[in-house]
Amino acid sequence: MRLEGKVAIVTGGAQGMGRAISLRYAQEGAKVVVGDLNLQGAQAVVDEITGANGQAVAVEVDVRDQAQAQSMVDTAVQQFGGLDILVNNAGVGKIIPFLETTEQDWNFMFDINCKGLLWCSQAAARQMISQGRGGKIVNLASQAGRRGEALVLAYCASKACVINMTQSMAMALAEHKINVNGIAPGIVDTPFWDEVDRQFAKLLNMEIGEPKRTFIKSIPLGRIEQPEDVTGAAVFLASAESDYITQQTLNVDGGNWPS
Ligand SMILES: NC(=O)c1ccc[n+]([C@@H]2O[C@H](COP(=O)([O-])OP(=O)(O)OC[C@H]3O[C@@H](n4cnc5c(N)ncnc54)[C@H](O)[C@@H]3O)[C@@H](O)[C@H]2O)c1
Repeated sequence: MRLEGKVAIVTGGAQGMGRAISLRYAQEGAKVVVGDLNLQGAQAVVDEITGANGQAVAVEVDVRDQAQAQSMVDTAVQQFGGLDILVNNAGVGKIIPFLETTEQDWNFMFDINCKGLLWCSQAAARQMISQGRGGKIVNLASQAGRRGEALVLAYCASKACVINMTQSMAMALAEHKINVNGIAPGIVDTPFWDEVDRQFAKLLNMEIGEPKRTFIKSIPLGRIEQPEDVTGAAVFLASAESDYITQQTLNVDGGNWPS
């Protein structure tokens, strides 16, 4: 087991990639705090983990709220005695044409994807620094952060911000042996992409499901990404095997984006 004895927080852990990462971390021996706006969903993931003899606790958290981010870290310390790994996975996206992007849309995506990531990372890093045994922070970016898209300006910008914040945080935390890296998934079969598909379909006058089928055709590895496909990278970047890697964002996208 590659995360034996470690304590991990996974934000947005109630479904999709956050759920898959939480389950995999528990299988690798970590004690997991599953944080989400959706407490019922987070609790269901915790039940899956404890049902398989793992250790986990659910926390209701809105990552946009600094005090709630702190209290999630406090829960990890109270329940499991410390914190070694934070996965900033909670995120939202909306497909909106450039000219129709409103302040509300912009704030919605940047508040959760970037500001929430900052609050959670600060609270986690302070705890890791005080423990003096290093740590790992893994941020969920996106292929969307690697390039612009006419219908996806705000989400693309927020994920470019995540890639950039990963670099700054890595520089700031290197002296404390806290590694900060990112994962940039491609088109992942989660409730998130079901909603993205509906929004693209409406804007492009397509049938529901058609945008997904069309985009999948261009993936070099020939199939849509499953939430489990990111878990190998998420374990690697949280384990001792990546101790000399920091500031990097790794594409896990079936070859969908070349750099
Ligand atoms: N699905 C994709 O194709 C894809 C691709 C690249 C990157 N991503 C990114 O990966 C991450 C996970 O995506 P997913 O597809 O599993 O998403 P999802 O929508 O299936 O799950 C996201 C989870 O985050 C939670 N959440 C939302 N806002 C929150 C908040 N303010 N505080 C706490 N929790 C909150 C939701 O309740 C949900 O459980 C996101 O950051 C997303 O932007 C997704």
